[in-house]
Amino acid sequence: MDKFVITGGTALQGEVTTSGSKNSALPALAAALLTEEPVVLHRVPRVRDIRTMERLLVDIGAKVDVENGSVRLHTERIVSPEAPYELVKTMRASSLVLGPLVARCGRARVSLPGGCAIGARPINLHIFGLEQLGARIHQAHGYIEAQAPDGLRGNTVNFDRITVTGTEDLMMAAVLAKGETILRNAAREPEVVDLADMLIRMGARIEGAGTSKIRVQGVERLAGVEHTIIPDRIEAGTFLVAGAITGGDLTVAACNPEHVSALVSKLQQAGVEVTQPDATTLRVRGRGHLRSVDITTEEYPGFATDLQAQYMALMTQAEGIALIVETIFENRYMHASELVRMGANIRIDGKQAIVAGPRQLTGAGVIASDLRASASLVLAALVAKGETVIDRVYHIDRGYEKIEAKLAATGARIRRVE
Ligand code: EPZ
Repeated sequence: MDKFVITGGTALQGEVTTSGSKNSALPALAAALLTEEPVVLHRVPRVRDIRTMERLLVDIGAKVDVENGSVRLHTERIVSPEAPYELVKTMRASSLVLGPLVARCGRARVSLPGGCAIGARPINLHIFGLEQLGARIHQAHGYIEAQAPDGLRGNTVNFDRITVTGTEDLMMAAVLAKGETILRNAAREPEVVDLADMLIRMGARIEGAGTSKIRVQGVERLAGVEHTIIPDRIEAGTFLVAGAITGGDLTVAACNPEHVSALVSKLQQAGVEVTQPDATTLRVRGRGHLRSVDITTEEYPGFATDLQAQYMALMTQAEGIALIVETIFENRYMHASELVRMGANIRIDGKQAIVAGPRQLTGAGVIASDLRASASLVLAALVAKGETVIDRVYHIDRGYEKIEAKLAATGARIRRVE
């Protein structure tokens, strides 16, 4: 298993370029199942989860050609409308093929994702939504089987809680259903909007993406499309924190500043200088003294849960007490105990984490537990005195493209050890 060896203490200088969004590319890849025509996606990040999804689509019957950051998919017919346990257990976002498969061929057999490090993460709302659209669902042997032999019928789906991939799954199911579907309490994340933009250009009729009420008029069929994925807001946010925590001067290029506005606001309140040189660039300058500022994670446009771990690392360096409240997942503080081993002063009390600072962190041997927790450990290692060895970096490879190369190019002393 690969490790990262990081020697802290250098202030990051220079420019990093944001890759395409993993969490936008995953539903976009699944959406290619909705048409028998070719689909071309640009700016797809070459990360593990994307490769897993591509493998799944090939098993389902898609022809997939990858060339640098572009992916060409052609699903002339569905060979096997299944997402097997072997794949789903490594990537729960495989459930994103559920809606497209039922919409395209009237049936799907998808493994239930099972547990995850950060929480139970059931997909009951994906299933409930498909039932509302007329699918018959049967659960057995760890799989769900969905049948809609006569096609799906439009209906109103009331989500009792906001779910990003649930919204995406149901939007993809609804675009080929007969009649009108309304998704209430829908997710407003930029990745939902990007998927809707792609589907509309394939011929779908969707209104309200980006608001909590999405209206879909079903159509007979969808055409192929060429689509460019939006920038990865979580990667961009991670780099902004990297510039702040090392007291550097870092430019994050090819990003969408609006998508990280909640983080930017908190960084500025904490005393970090963040400016926007142009429409797709942010510049962050750490000016030494950091103030503790509380956060509560919320659905978009609130503070992203996927940036909570990175922000916690930053708050270990801030003057005062920061209260962090994680409201989206029930177990997303596993990075805290590793940060404490590096010298941080953090107490967890249920949904709350209390971070007291500033504390000089020292390099240590630590273990990554999930994608964003590993990013938090990298950030802490960049400011820690001495050498940190982070084990199980395959977690970070799931969602960050060439992160060690991007960081090293701005002065970080980081190397991967096989
Ligand atoms: C998406 O996961 C992201 N993944 C996650 O990013 C992100 O953390 C999450 O949204 C929240 O923003 C992708 O987009 C591929 P949810 P998703 O459904 O859709 C509960 C990363 O680091 N829930 O919005 O799975 C669920 O347990 C990943 O890139 C149900 O109870 O998250 C959670 O507590 C991690 N029933 C809450 O809702 C359901 O049917 C939000 O989950 C669905 C969800």
